[in-house]
Amino acid sequence: MPDLTATVVVDADIPGPAISRHLYGQFAEHLGRCVYGGFWVGEDSPIPNVGGIRSDVVEALRELDIPNLRWPGGCFADEYHWRDGIGPRSERPRMVNTHWGDVVEDNAFGTHEFMALCELLGAEPYISGNVGSGTVREMADWVEYLTRPGTAPMADLRRANGRDEPWRLRFWGLGNEPWGCGGRMSAQAYADLARQYGTYSRDHGDNVLYRIAAGASDWDVEWTEALMKAVADLDRGPFPALPFQAVSVHYYTIGGTWTAKGSATEFGADDYWRTIVAARDVEPLLRRHIAVMDRYDPQRRVGLVLDEWGTWWDVEPGTNPGFLYQQNTMRDAMVAALHLDVFHRLADRLVMANIAQTVNVLQAMILTDEETGALVRTPTYHVFEMNKVHQDATAVPTYVKAPDLVREVGDRQVPTLSASASVRDGRCHVSLTNTDLEQAVEVTLDLRGADVSAVRGRLLSAPGVAAANTPAEPDAVAPREVALGAGPGGVTVVLPPHSFAVLEVDVPGLTLPSVPAVEERRPCPTCP
Ligand code: AHR
Repeated sequence: MPDLTATVVVDADIPGPAISRHLYGQFAEHLGRCVYGGFWVGEDSPIPNVGGIRSDVVEALRELDIPNLRWPGGCFADEYHWRDGIGPRSERPRMVNTHWGDVVEDNAFGTHEFMALCELLGAEPYISGNVGSGTVREMADWVEYLTRPGTAPMADLRRANGRDEPWRLRFWGLGNEPWGCGGRMSAQAYADLARQYGTYSRDHGDNVLYRIAAGASDWDVEWTEALMKAVADLDRGPFPALPFQAVSVHYYTIGGTWTAKGSATEFGADDYWRTIVAARDVEPLLRRHIAVMDRYDPQRRVGLVLDEWGTWWDVEPGTNPGFLYQQNTMRDAMVAALHLDVFHRLADRLVMANIAQTVNVLQAMILTDEETGALVRTPTYHVFEMNKVHQDATAVPTYVKAPDLVREVGDRQVPTLSASASVRDGRCHVSLTNTDLEQAVEVTLDLRGADVSAVRGRLLSAPGVAAANTPAEPDAVAPREVALGAGPGGVTVVLPPHSFAVLEVDVPGLTLPSVPAVEERRPCPTCP
């Protein structure tokens, strides 16, 4: 029996915000081995594929119910010219990927291949258009190519390339990191461009875009303020719709510094705790951006999109520094679990989030071996798989009563236990994360406002926090059923050090009113 105990109180009958499934979004950039070698092997590859897309990767990712996939970047989006990636592959022009590895890109994976990938995954596409080095016309044409029904120049071009029906496309990004790789612009300069590019990113037929303005880096709330002012101005004018419906923000968890981020697998307790502090900072960071948004949009019609997040370590020794390939351990799993708890809490404004990135880059779900092609599911993959039960559920208030479970890190007091819960279809799911490095904790679940008929649980844990999955040991870290106990206060579960659990509680008869997710709310009363 562990020395440490805690109680997690869940008010199962008090509905909070809808947890949009899009908070579980992913990101695939033309970077390193994410697209080429990760998703795309080409039709002639000995690796089994459907039209060039790796079958094993698709199969593994389908288990995550990926709601949306962001593409083609990242920084790459602002030097990508979509017309280079359509038509016969042998005739597609080549280009240099100046951001990532300075390698030659042959454009084999373009619009049709990406949309086919989304269809295979059952994910909605989230495409970021080129503001940094493109033109308004280029962006307008791409939207028309993708979504225009009937006869029209771009729709006809699409048809000539083998796709008759327009695709369904909601999520449309207006550039990426314009303060940095996307053009080194000032907030005001970009806010003006976002209005212009957003305006010409048209709705065609019955396809309605959800335009996402490229947002701030980390704590830069002034950037968010410039974007909110840019839409608030128009909201008072004679315009039927806003030029963008959401603003984004990027935040990476860096345990070290930008120039020395530290090893993904070889780290000490101090490195670990700095990482946990950085991961926990995502909550105050998002709350600050939300506070600014609330000033201009108190009805919360404009969404906040965290479309890049996750851990960023030094690349694995011997790999191309421009390819951002890193291993993934239980420490990464802790970071993912902490973020997802925050997303559930902030779901009334946070409409979407995209972890960077899905395969072979940064905090990946899947790693593939360059030589053998072997596929490995990372500890982060398992957190996403275990937590997918929260997608489109209703968040319910969750309180951690554990005053002693606090760790001092420098001048910070960091709670070591984190939790969140949601209700859907007669079930309440409770996620529990014990970030303590040495101590197990016995958690009592005090679930209020519902009759409990049965409880089950799954646990992700490993003897060491640096435990990782490899081709030789693909299941060194994998979830398993966990034994539950019964105490006077409710069901009990023991969480080992650095572990993550999801409890599933049957609460028959409990139904909560459904609340539309933020991205379903049109951002102005007169919008279609
Ligand atoms: O995800 C890697 C890179 O990080 C993206 O291309 C860029 O947007 C960010 O700086």
